Amino acid sequence: MNAIETNGLTKVYEGTAVVKALDLKVNGEIYGLLGPNGSGKTTTVNMLTTLVRPSSGTASVCGHDVTKDSAGVRQSMSYVPQDMAVDIRLTGWENVELFAKLYGIRDKAERRERIEYVLDIMNLTERAGDMTKKYSGGMRRRLELAQALVHRPDVLFLDEPTVGLDVTSRRSIWEYITKLRGTGMTIFVTTHQMDEAERYCDRVGILKKGVLLNEGTPAELTSDLEDVVIVRTDSELPQKLPDGVVPVKLENGEAVFSAADGADSLDAILDAYRAEGGKVFSASVRGPTLEDVYMQAIGPGEEAPFDEDRFRNMMRRR
Ligand SMILES: Nc1ncnc2c1ncn2[C@@H]1O[C@H](COP(=O)(O)OP(=O)(O)OP(=O)(O)O)[C@@H](O)[C@H]1O
Ligand SMILES: [Mg+2]
Repeated sequence: MNAIETNGLTKVYEGTAVVKALDLKVNGEIYGLLGPNGSGKTTTVNMLTTLVRPSSGTASVCGHDVTKDSAGVRQSMSYVPQDMAVDIRLTGWENVELFAKLYGIRDKAERRERIEYVLDIMNLTERAGDMTKKYSGGMRRRLELAQALVHRPDVLFLDEPTVGLDVTSRRSIWEYITKLRGTGMTIFVTTHQMDEAERYCDRVGILKKGVLLNEGTPAELTSDLEDVVIVRTDSELPQKLPDGVVPVKLENGEAVFSAADGADSLDAILDAYRAEGGKVFSASVRGPTLEDVYMQAIGPGEEAPFDEDRFRNMMRRR
């Protein structure tokens, strides 16, 4: 049994399918659902957490069907929504206690033990008696995780867990999430942070207009792409580029190319500039990233597609 499973999961709003025939199998891992604004991430999570009823298809969490056994689903999972807020009129302890009561943990001693435990995991013990009004953004997010964990869920849903946090807080949130995965928990997370997804998610899926375009480990997905060569130059694009080298974009005086065997291609690209009297200030090669995979899958959006003539003219005008 997979912790999360969907078959043809679909949601239609006002005649438009915003999630289309989604097939997912997620188990004992950190799974990242990526996609632009409005692609259907939150709707997917809302269906999996029984907040929104699917229009068609099926979904289950820990074997419990989301429509036929919503109580079973709620018993197995916790959800930290995108826009959840702690109650700033309460202390950290009181906020967690509120959730413990909501989750129906009636035994006082057990409740106390669980609250102490989750506050400790989230490194909030020392500040548990403070009003959460005084907490930083990162501490509040950790408190929200503590609230979700007091339920001891098998599956944890997190909608954009690091939005609005500084670099250190982001890192610590991901470290806590990674620790939870280590206890056997399944974590389903949505994010816009490609670098974080690449680093911390075991697998990711890329959603565009409700359709899952790409799925796999970040390494699998990036291995399908070529290297990226970046050249800083004020010269125009060489008329003759080496075979297999494709210009991708011009960005702040940088020409970006995609090329197999980046290191070899770099030399060939520099030769091509020199052969036509061009000047290159610096150049570098990097492997493809998840962001490259994402951009290729999602496409340029509102921006115009890459136009080589325009690219050449821009270079000429500089
Ligand atoms: N209750 C609703 N009624 C009608 N349309 C809705 C409703 N909820 C969501 N939608 C639409 O469904 C689509 C998907 O929305 P959703 O919130 O799932 O996207 P998202 O991927 O979470 O976006 P974001 O990255 O901005 O959080 C959007 O076009 C949205 O306007
Ligand atoms: Mg959303």
